Amino acid sequence: IKKIGVLTSGGDAPGMNAAIRAVVRTAIFNNLEVVGVKQGYEGLIKGDFETMKSYDVSNIIQKGGTILCSARSEEFRSVEGRKKAHEQMLAAKIDALVVIGGDGTFSGARIFTQEYDIPVVGIPGTIDNDLFGTDYTIGFDTALNTVIEAVDKIRDTASAHNRLFFIEVMGRDAGFLALRSGIATGAEAILIPERQTHLKDLEKYLAKGYKGHKNSGIVIVAEGDKSGGAYTIAREIEKKHPEYDIRVSVLGHMQRGGSPSAFDRVTASTLGVAAVDALLDDQKSIMVGMVNGEVSHVSFNKTIKNKKVVKDSLLTLNDILSI
Ligand code: F6P
Repeated sequence: IKKIGVLTSGGDAPGMNAAIRAVVRTAIFNNLEVVGVKQGYEGLIKGDFETMKSYDVSNIIQKGGTILCSARSEEFRSVEGRKKAHEQMLAAKIDALVVIGGDGTFSGARIFTQEYDIPVVGIPGTIDNDLFGTDYTIGFDTALNTVIEAVDKIRDTASAHNRLFFIEVMGRDAGFLALRSGIATGAEAILIPERQTHLKDLEKYLAKGYKGHKNSGIVIVAEGDKSGGAYTIAREIEKKHPEYDIRVSVLGHMQRGGSPSAFDRVTASTLGVAAVDALLDDQKSIMVGMVNGEVSHVSFNKTIKNKKVVKDSLLTLNDILSI
């Protein structure tokens, strides 16, 4: 390997820049050339490449977003799109790729490595933390802290008015952000896609906690919850309990921005180094991750086919602590 490309794809996450910096500098440290690919797989198809030197990644470790920009590429899903990408890589003499993103990013990478003899290593970057084979994804810790800060503020006004808030947090298919932020903010209930909570059970929690003896209530709802999002659930509860003063707050994309936390910066730096090391070690189709504080390697196959499990113990913990 002489020249590697690095790209960010899918939803951005705080810490992606720290990962780009680590990839670029580790490549240069190992006498490799490195190019940045703009807008994920879109840039790969268009040949939108930029040679990167050490100073190009100066002063970005603390920045949210991604200096390479990101996209969800429809064209890369097609055989023709991937053929174009391969041709662009040959023309630019790029021998290997580091892709930073989530499951969609790795699904694309997996097919690409099956079709062409191009080694690709993935770095998990998504605020959803929903990738099998790593305890944490880059951006999750920062997003969690962003959510906690917002919910704490909502708790202030909820207590002042004796209100019940339904707060929707991101997580189209996963409840990791909802679960941890719910525990960290002392939520009265947490609704996540991995566990169906029936309206009756929710009413029970609220009657016991909020209505029973508290002057505010917070229900954290993951965006992908099966009951249909914060507004729908709030309306249902409102119909049955006109005595509750209910408000809804959807936190939205502010959860994806901001300066990465120390934890995300260190994880991103560790995984950026590990990704280039893996390429130098002839790895071809894997994701690097963190398991029990150590770097792990898991095939794209495994991380795509398996679903990360939500710890039941955390849900039980919240049931106990929210009484
Ligand atoms: O990055 C993952 C995620 O945050 C999901 O939780 C959410 O549903 C999705 O991105 C929304 O992304 P976009 O608005 O970019 O389509």
